Amino acid sequence: MCGIVGYLGEKPAQPILIAGLKRLEYRGYDSAGIVSLSPRSKATLVRAKGKVSELVAKVSEAPKTDVIGIGHTRWATHGEPSKRNAHPHNVGDIYLVHNGIIENYQDLKAMLSRYDYEMKSDTDTEVLTALIDYLSHKHETLLEAVSGALNMVVGAYGIAVIDRKNPDEIIVARKGSPLILGLGKGEVFIASDASAIVGYTDQVIYLRDGEVAQCMRDGVELYDLEQNVVSQTVETLEIDLQAIQKQGHKHFLEKEIYEQPETVRATLGGRIDTEKHTAKLGGLNMTDAELRAVKHIFVVGCGTASYAGLLAKYYIEQLAPDVMVSVEVASELRYRSFTVPENSVALFVSQSGETADTLACLTEMKRRGVRCLGVVNAVGSTIAREVDGGVYLHVGAEISVASTKAFTSQVVAMVIFGIMLADSKGADKRVISEFVDELDSLPSQIEALLAEQAGEIAGIAKKYAKYEHALYIGRDALFPVALEGALKMKEISYIHAEGYPSGELKHGPIALIDDRFFEVCYIQDNWLYEKSQSNLIEMNARGAHAIAITDTTKKVPAENVIRVKTKLSYLTPLLFNIVTQLLAYNIAIARKTDVDQPRNLAKSVTVE
Ligand code: F6R
Repeated sequence: MCGIVGYLGEKPAQPILIAGLKRLEYRGYDSAGIVSLSPRSKATLVRAKGKVSELVAKVSEAPKTDVIGIGHTRWATHGEPSKRNAHPHNVGDIYLVHNGIIENYQDLKAMLSRYDYEMKSDTDTEVLTALIDYLSHKHETLLEAVSGALNMVVGAYGIAVIDRKNPDEIIVARKGSPLILGLGKGEVFIASDASAIVGYTDQVIYLRDGEVAQCMRDGVELYDLEQNVVSQTVETLEIDLQAIQKQGHKHFLEKEIYEQPETVRATLGGRIDTEKHTAKLGGLNMTDAELRAVKHIFVVGCGTASYAGLLAKYYIEQLAPDVMVSVEVASELRYRSFTVPENSVALFVSQSGETADTLACLTEMKRRGVRCLGVVNAVGSTIAREVDGGVYLHVGAEISVASTKAFTSQVVAMVIFGIMLADSKGADKRVISEFVDELDSLPSQIEALLAEQAGEIAGIAKKYAKYEHALYIGRDALFPVALEGALKMKEISYIHAEGYPSGELKHGPIALIDDRFFEVCYIQDNWLYEKSQSNLIEMNARGAHAIAITDTTKKVPAENVIRVKTKLSYLTPLLFNIVTQLLAYNIAIARKTDVDQPRNLAKSVTVE
């Protein structure tokens, strides 16, 4: 979604702001802009529709050496993508960039119109800028004007504000939309995402909800909205520059698919014991007795994270048969009436740790007194901070908009949790041991798949790039994989793809099959093999163009068969999922789409 950068120091701000915006490009956006102030209070505002490269072209026509500025990449919510709606917005002497949504902007706009404010854009952000300008005439300081305005606002925001008359100060504030302050020597960096700060400084402050920061060259002061000084904690940033570079890969997506042996190792690191066949998650903050008491688990997430939850449901219910798992799409759960069964815990699954709907469900579950646990990748993110305990994935920055390595590790982390639950309950030791052993060999199995079969998968993918529709089917734990496979395909190749449980075919989707479709059938050589094979035969009889992804050595009647050689069983669906990650990636390349930044999508969905 939208991205914010800011700089105040001794160096020229424009190149730093542009470099920051480039690093935020992966989040998805449709316009960009920067403003800088000269020591004599002259503002230079440059905005452009489209990519940051358009902005760079405009900036290079008349570059400035100003040492203070703020910048933004916008993902349109109120008003079309255009230069007019791009941030920074300017009213009077105030310049402002904003992530989030001001819900009562119509009321505020009506109020401001009584004082002759006329808006030039369609955005809620310009209204907030005008409100701050209005209050700046009633208050002594920018800090007071910003705090006053934020006390009148309903909604979510991360903002950075400058006043043309004062080129020595940036005010930033957050509620529901992340902001990080990087502290250098005589300089401050501001960003909505740590990747824009990496390499400049590793000393950071994560702003908390309801805080306003006054940034000056010699440091930062934090306040609440009543302008009381609040304490600040300086932390060390964990990601490094390597994590945000492609390192020889053509796309971040390819890099992230290939990182999976290592990222799974990182998620497992020190958490399973292959001698005793046990597991331990240090950050869970739950005793054995508390784990033993769990009877019901809500798994809450959006998109890929919710599909990881659905796959984990199959595993956790197998490991701990007295536990029921309900997988909830956060955007639905947050507005639904639901009861919390006794002895419930809730798992919040999120790569970014900032997804607005998931966060709203977390707030509601906390209000109801449910123990809330995070399955989160981004260290220091809002969800990670708000939960009672949880597990970090440790997969490093996931830059490509489509999630790959995070999905695999989300499932792995939840299986580890399932093993702990099962162990505490004295569940079947044989099943527990098999899961531990499979987790242990998962990284090498992924390694072998990538080394031995990526070429074959790329070759098959090319044959299917011409289709406009795809149907993905799977049974049991392969059903969530079908959903995830179809999601990856539609996101990055723009092929319309649907995932279904194989058993549902005859209840509707088989009517779709014709020459415009290809089908992806996941078939595991287990107790459901015959049934899955029958589904494939039924589709063939209707003229299917099927790709079967299977671990069997038996004959499979499909147009193309991708045989995955593996000694896994429970976790084979994770390998099949990587096959479809590669399938989607190669088809997207053949269709020449923007693989890492698919149209209309954002990496982290911080608004509803
Ligand atoms: C799909 C994808 C999205 C995210 C979803 C949740 O490839 O990336 O569906 O999984 O937006 O995001 P997080 O995990 O950050 O909460």
